[in-house]
Amino acid sequence: MNQSTQLVNLASRLPKTELHLHIEGSLEPDMVMQMARRNRVELPFSSTEQLKALYDFKDLQSFLDLYYLATNVLQTEQDFFDLTWAYLERCRDQNIVHTEIFFDPQSHTSRGIPFKVVVDGIHGALSRAQTELNISSRLILCFLRHLSPDDALVTWEQAEPSLEYIDGVGLDSAERDFPPSLFTGVFELARKAGLRTVAHAGEEGPADYIRQAVELLQVSRIDHGVRITEDPSLLAQVARDQIPLTVCPLSNTRLCVYDSMNDHPILELLDKGLLVTVNSDDPAYFGGYVNQNYAAVIEALAPTQEQVVTLVRNGFTASFLDEATKARWTRKLDDFSAQ
Ligand code: ADE
Ligand code: ZN
Repeated sequence: MNQSTQLVNLASRLPKTELHLHIEGSLEPDMVMQMARRNRVELPFSSTEQLKALYDFKDLQSFLDLYYLATNVLQTEQDFFDLTWAYLERCRDQNIVHTEIFFDPQSHTSRGIPFKVVVDGIHGALSRAQTELNISSRLILCFLRHLSPDDALVTWEQAEPSLEYIDGVGLDSAERDFPPSLFTGVFELARKAGLRTVAHAGEEGPADYIRQAVELLQVSRIDHGVRITEDPSLLAQVARDQIPLTVCPLSNTRLCVYDSMNDHPILELLDKGLLVTVNSDDPAYFGGYVNQNYAAVIEALAPTQEQVVTLVRNGFTASFLDEATKARWTRKLDDFSAQ
């Protein structure tokens, strides 16, 4: 077996985390068609094949247009449960033992689906996965940055009765021209309520949005953050403070942030001392779940075994697990990789 195949096998066997996953982005094409039939939702395509033919994106916005269209099939608490459960079964199959998932409530409440229907469906699956699959989780509410800060505040009010199920808030959707600074108010409310904060920044937007997310939104992690390469002094600060980056390699190539995986800076970021993790973002759309992301990185960039294990270990370090649980998993990882 060559070195690359060995590392792909190792990465797939290791216990892992996922820290950047939009649950709506795990809506597989078969499930889109099945839920459209079940809920009598009209779509501008009539088969899984026709839908898959649209998975050819030129940038973030071209993807988001299809992503929001497909979310229209999600209507009932059962739909949100089924979507989340299907993702958690993938986690089990890929040895993901802890996942922190995003959901986009505004893409549902704007269609008249109550916030509670969304959160109860997702939470139901997460809590069942803890008992039946031994998978722990956190739930992160993302505000859509292409909508107004006032809309985010209304969403925060809708979330308040369900805060026992929500661990953090994030910021996603179209990045260019929607800087983090717009959302300082709602992020402050979330922090005052004891929630963690994260934000997408430096995916398509400039490195300055990473700085704003750190300084104004006081985030615990940056989602994507790959454009930090453009600002060496910010990079040094984020490395010094060990603010994690949740990097999504297949997403970045599918959305043309990089022309090819050979151009992806993930190992360069790691070598510069950043706390980098590997995640799938929207696995149903970008060609795979976490293991496929490791495989793509290993095949294109030929990391060492130590680099692969560091990426996996960083996932636990960067998670919102308590310190004792993190230590338990990282000890297990050391045992595994010594075998
Ligand atoms: N929503 C779902 N996937 C996203 C991404 N990659 N960037 C921003 N918003 C998103
Ligand atoms: Zn994302």
